[in-house]
Amino acid sequence: MPNDILIAPSILAADFAALGAAVAEVDAAGADWLHLDVMDGNFVPNISFGPAVIKALRPHSAKTFDAHLMINPVDAFVAEFVNAGCERITVHPEAGPHVHRSLGLIRSLGAKPGVALNPGTPVEAIDNLIDLVDLVLVMSVNPGFGGQSFIDSQLAKIAAVRRRIDASGRDIRLQVDGGATPATAGAIAHAGADVIVAGTAVFKDGPAGYARNVAAIRNAAMAGRKARAA
Ligand code: DX5
Ligand code: ZN
Repeated sequence: MPNDILIAPSILAADFAALGAAVAEVDAAGADWLHLDVMDGNFVPNISFGPAVIKALRPHSAKTFDAHLMINPVDAFVAEFVNAGCERITVHPEAGPHVHRSLGLIRSLGAKPGVALNPGTPVEAIDNLIDLVDLVLVMSVNPGFGGQSFIDSQLAKIAAVRRRIDASGRDIRLQVDGGATPATAGAIAHAGADVIVAGTAVFKDGPAGYARNVAAIRNAAMAGRKARAA
């Protein structure tokens, strides 16, 4: 498991009228990655933004652009997201039609592929994919909206994914997305996550709160990691 825990603010919770500034400011406030939630109104019941917006944001930060595609179909759009500057692209097996093909396509275009598990998707869904991915995302809310409450049953799944990643011997990040706050980040890290996505908990107080909110999530996560090691 990597020694560090990365915090990936989701700009879904930022002011959409000032996204460039939000990206630059949250980067300066200590964000490790920028998490980009792409929603199409088909795979999930909400629409957010697409590759043109991501491309416009790219000059505002040099940090990793981590795209979470909640779109169906996926394959026809992967190249556009890579060209927009996404270094990591994560897809859902349910988005289809063929997740194995999508992951290979992402890799072939030079980005790092990730696979996302919805709260109702069993951990076994990654068993035939783990050799293809650089990241497994455990969704701790149903995808589609920010500001939902963390679903506690996903902690056992995080631990189960951790065991699979460790057994693989591969360098794979374990990301958790949804309902992460200083109150839940400890348990998330204790279960074995090493990348925590947070939207509402980072952006809720406006730019003046970004650094404080990122630090609070990071500190809670590091305490959870310490307790795990003890
Ligand atoms: C949900 C998204 C999440 C979400 C996280 O579909 O994938 O990234 O925006 O938002 P919070 O942290 O507010 O739960
Ligand atoms: Zn997300």
